[in-house]
Amino acid sequence: MKLIKEKKIRIKNENDFLNGRGLVKELAEEIELSDLVKTKITTASSEILRNMLIHGKGGVIIIRIIEKDNKIGLEVICKDKGVGIPDKELALQKGFSTNKSLGLGLPGAKNLVDEFQLKSELNKGTVVKLMVWKQ
Ligand SMILES: Nc1ncnc2c1ncn2[C@@H]1O[C@H](COP(=O)(O)OP(=O)(O)OP(=O)(O)O)[C@@H](O)[C@H]1O
Ligand SMILES: [Mg+2]
Repeated sequence: MKLIKEKKIRIKNENDFLNGRGLVKELAEEIELSDLVKTKITTASSEILRNMLIHGKGGVIIIRIIEKDNKIGLEVICKDKGVGIPDKELALQKGFSTNKSLGLGLPGAKNLVDEFQLKSELNKGTVVKLMVWKQ
């Protein structure tokens, strides 16, 4: 696995959210992902960024262009030091929300990407990793 490029931004307000999402789109375009895959990774990243702001009180986004076995991919990691998720399986179910929201962000994001990883520890924080590969 080879790291081609890495960008990192702190996410603490709406403007950072927009910059973060914009950067995902930019790197997706740089590696010429299809419009479909680009939309998938941008939408999934939006949901996770939104969660980080609302539930995690902000954090960082790391976006990486990666090469592995002759494939190019885009990896998006969102990390926060918020309250954490006590039950990850429950949080990944459609309709579960502690905010009286739709509860579709996490399950939706998981469905959109090729690889999804959720790590969270109560009162320590949450790390979500998203990955898509170029076809
Ligand atoms: N970064 C995070 N830190 C702490 N809790 C989180 C985080 N992300 C998600 N959660 C928890 O997981 C639940 C489900 O997240 P999900 O994004 O699916 O739904 P939501 O944000 O409540 O609603 P929606 O995204 O549909 O508006 C949240 O309600 C929240 O309790
Ligand atoms: Mg959400």
